[in-house]
Amino acid sequence: LLLLSSLLLSSILLSACGEQSPSIIDARGFVAQQEGFVFWVILVIAAVVFVGVEGMLVYSIFRFRERPDSVNPRQNHGSLALEILWTAIPTFFLLVILVFTIRGLFQVAPDAQPADSKTVNVTAIGHQWWWEFHYQQYNITTADTLVIPAGTVVHVDLFSNNVIHSFWVPQLTGKTDLVPGHDNKKWFKADDDTVGKTFVGICAEFCGAQHGNMRFEVKVESADGFQSWLTAQSQHAATPASGSLAEEGQKIFQGAGACAGCHGIVGVNAQQFIDTAKVCDDSNPKDLNNNECPLGPNLTHFGSRGLIAGGVLDNNSSQCNTDQSASDLLANCNLAKWLHDPQGVKPGNDMAIGQLTNDQIKALVAYLESLK
Ligand code: CUA
Repeated sequence: LLLLSSLLLSSILLSACGEQSPSIIDARGFVAQQEGFVFWVILVIAAVVFVGVEGMLVYSIFRFRERPDSVNPRQNHGSLALEILWTAIPTFFLLVILVFTIRGLFQVAPDAQPADSKTVNVTAIGHQWWWEFHYQQYNITTADTLVIPAGTVVHVDLFSNNVIHSFWVPQLTGKTDLVPGHDNKKWFKADDDTVGKTFVGICAEFCGAQHGNMRFEVKVESADGFQSWLTAQSQHAATPASGSLAEEGQKIFQGAGACAGCHGIVGVNAQQFIDTAKVCDDSNPKDLNNNECPLGPNLTHFGSRGLIAGGVLDNNSSQCNTDQSASDLLANCNLAKWLHDPQGVKPGNDMAIGQLTNDQIKALVAYLESLK
């Protein structure tokens, strides 16, 4: 038991080492640090109890084992002192845990959100199975990538119109559920020295077949970097050069029964970003522009995102040069893989395109990756 426990403990500790590994032990923001502190308090108390109890057990096994000359031990029938002692010690430990837990709860509660004039307000919308992020103040929308400034309070309103999801960025903030019909909110903050870092976000509530592939990333920028990202995101998508492969891709995108039926690109088939959480639900299937509410992620600045397909694949645009042969493109470029066989990459998702030809895939890759 001791061996097993120490193995478990060391694997938990070691899991904090990998750069990409999202570990609550390597907290990089105030909220996660407070939550991590409660974790350490409980771990230390549990370790003390474990060593004490197991130590007594192991000692007793050896000290009082049966020997050839053993006499019958003294028989005990109840001890008031012992019973008081073994009630008092656990009560004390549980009280300590209770005090630290309640203190932690109040520190990270929505009501404890610090007043910060630079607060960034985001609506996080859980879909099956991808994340949509709408920035109310700036009226921009992204998918699977949440960009935030370092050292600034980020307020998140959590919405779901389908099933329960849970928003979790292990190094920045603990889990909060997105419950249909019950709007939750939370806040968090990334440390000042996390500029340039990317943190892994995870859906932490089972929400269907691809729950495990409902990931997002949180990119931390400097205040200036965040401003320039906002400026770029609030512009309409770039128009592809006349006669280019990208222009051909845009035509395919807008073709009958193709991408534009589910995906919006501002300036192409959508007039503005919409906050689908506020606008679209079962009773209201039309968006602000009286179009059908979009089923899929808005793709306006697709090329600037780090993840695609709800976080299953990296958006490895450097591998998506359309000068390479169709087979190389399919082997190297994740977007091409995704367009070629979305159900193979992520079974059960809503991508309902028919089989695209290699030429169509090439043109769509050229177009979508050009949308920086
Ligand atoms: Cu969404 Cu699990």
